[in-house]
Amino acid sequence: MNYAAWAEWYDVVYATEGDAEVDFYVGLARKYGGPVLEIGAGTGRIAIPTASAGIDVLGIDLSPEMLRVARQRAASTRPVGKIEFATGDMREFELDRRFKLVTIPARTLLLATSAESQMATLANAARHVAPGGILALNVFVPDPQMLADTNRSPFFWDDVTNPANGRRCLLWALNRFDTSEQLNEGLQIIEELGDHGEVLRKAYLDVLLRYIYPSELRLMLEKAGLEIVDEYGDFFGSPFEFQSSEQVCVCRVRGS
Ligand SMILES: C[S@@+](CC[C@H](N)C(=O)[O-])C[C@H]1O[C@@H](n2cnc3c(N)ncnc32)[C@H](O)[C@@H]1O
Repeated sequence: MNYAAWAEWYDVVYATEGDAEVDFYVGLARKYGGPVLEIGAGTGRIAIPTASAGIDVLGIDLSPEMLRVARQRAASTRPVGKIEFATGDMREFELDRRFKLVTIPARTLLLATSAESQMATLANAARHVAPGGILALNVFVPDPQMLADTNRSPFFWDDVTNPANGRRCLLWALNRFDTSEQLNEGLQIIEELGDHGEVLRKAYLDVLLRYIYPSELRLMLEKAGLEIVDEYGDFFGSPFEFQSSEQVCVCRVRGS
């Protein structure tokens, strides 16, 4: 994926999300305490509010461009808690610190695009949890209808405001599922509109992810030495059930 291109548009795409996910992870940080390690911290959407709640955070990300945005935002927010960002690959980074709470929010686990690299990510995350600490993550639940859709034209997805300049943006998406490898080679298209509805800028952002089925995630977590203590179907604490579209897992390291 071209994260350099994503860095400019990430917050526009996430303008479609409410605050529920951010509130959920900040709530976990309040409950379990810091320091927090956020894996795939991106532009600081969750790390900065966590630090603003007075909790120390370290955000790791593969992309220096995403972290540049995060650092600028942190500098202007000046949160109460200590906030640091470092470049690293979630599959193999090594820190000589352990954390009370390690998080992999925003379906970032799926950006490791093979079962092996997803396992490596979970095992590495588990290694960075302090004794008695927590690992929390979320992924979407694959929707059979979506996987069966072979439509080759982009579909309209949302109408949002670019938080950076107040301009209206139309979001389109295209999915190409490979059900044998559980991959989606997708495209997100953003049209930024002028005052008269004319397209001022158009961005094409690629997305490659490997989706995971619920029982597969549970097995992966177990294999990584983790034990699920809470499993939710959304960020409001609803139980995970057959119609849930999100799988949110809160885990402990087994035996710690
Ligand atoms: C969906 S964004 C999530 C950002 C942030 N956690 C949030 O909730 O807004 C995924 C982030 O994961 C990062 N990422 C992708 N692959 C990675 C890898 N192998 N190691 C570390 N970070 C990675 C991307 O650069 C991107 O910033």
